[in-house]
Amino acid sequence: MELALQTQGLSRRFPGGQGVHALDLAVPAGAIYGFLGPNGAGKTTTIRLLLGLLRADAGEIRLLGEPLDPLRRGVLARVGALVENPSLYPHLDGRANLEVTRRLLGLPATRVGEVLERIGLAADAGRRVREYSLGMRQRLGIGLALLSRPRLLVLDEPGNGLDPAGTQQLRGFLRELVATEGLTLFLSSHLLGEIDQLASHVGVLDGGRLRFQGTLAALRERARHALLLRCDDPSRAVRVLVDAGEDPALAEGHALRLWPRLPVAEINRRLVAAGVAVTHLAIEPVTLERLFFELTGPDPRREQVA
Ligand SMILES: Nc1ncnc2c1ncn2[C@@H]1O[C@H](COP(=O)(O)OP(=O)(O)O)[C@@H](O)[C@H]1O
Ligand SMILES: [Mg+2]
Repeated sequence: MELALQTQGLSRRFPGGQGVHALDLAVPAGAIYGFLGPNGAGKTTTIRLLLGLLRADAGEIRLLGEPLDPLRRGVLARVGALVENPSLYPHLDGRANLEVTRRLLGLPATRVGEVLERIGLAADAGRRVREYSLGMRQRLGIGLALLSRPRLLVLDEPGNGLDPAGTQQLRGFLRELVATEGLTLFLSSHLLGEIDQLASHVGVLDGGRLRFQGTLAALRERARHALLLRCDDPSRAVRVLVDAGEDPALAEGHALRLWPRLPVAEINRRLVAAGVAVTHLAIEPVTLERLFFELTGPDPRREQVA
């Protein structure tokens, strides 16, 4: 499988201990990859590393099959990006905003008109950007990133601040963009619903670590196989489960939820052997929202389970 974006052991630690840790990202060419995680998970940090805007402590980054060299433009010439809010000139119109970057990049003059069409702003190209809605500004920011015909487009929370209608418009726009330009889209969001109907693949980040990576279908599949467990001693159960290679999450009412690797009977046997009285053990499908919440929720190994 050809990968448009790949990292191995990508790490960057900040003084407070925050940052991102040993990320192995794999984004297939042509994918719409939703990079999900709550605020503070490390999404923007990762994206800044991917774009050479921040130096990694360790790890490797390959974009479009080439290693990233942050000191040279190299492969970044074929990558378009929008990190947080676009830098636009509010007193200039949409066309002029594109024109400034077009000239900087030495692209043909006809490119601005093409991009205006592509982002659906041709009719508003003569209006000052200060009169644009947030959604229009966002599309103009994406237009800036599209000028150089990137093969990989990286967008950091493009839906941030949009209302539900704006989010839906953005999704439709991005879907069409990927279909017509044949590019790979990597976009971050803290809202599952924002990328649910858009992404082919997802990576779920929490506390700087990748908690899940795969197709959205695989994430849905995982949601169908949740095991809910109640017992007399959840703390001990967590230790037994972790020793057994499982990854339990805290669920409502001191229950534990896991996506078992071992057969359920074997899990029960190990708990009982360790002196844990299991009172309830059942496969219970969970919604995608709850799965996301639990993947990014409190870690029962750190939490006081009482
Ligand atoms: N330059 C920095 N110095 C110290 N801590 C930082 C810096 N940048 C980000 N952080 C911390 O790293 C964590 C991840 O931040 P960020 O990547 O912005 O998360 P996200 O984009 O997922 O909301 C946060 O706890 C944030 O406070
Ligand atoms: Mg961010």
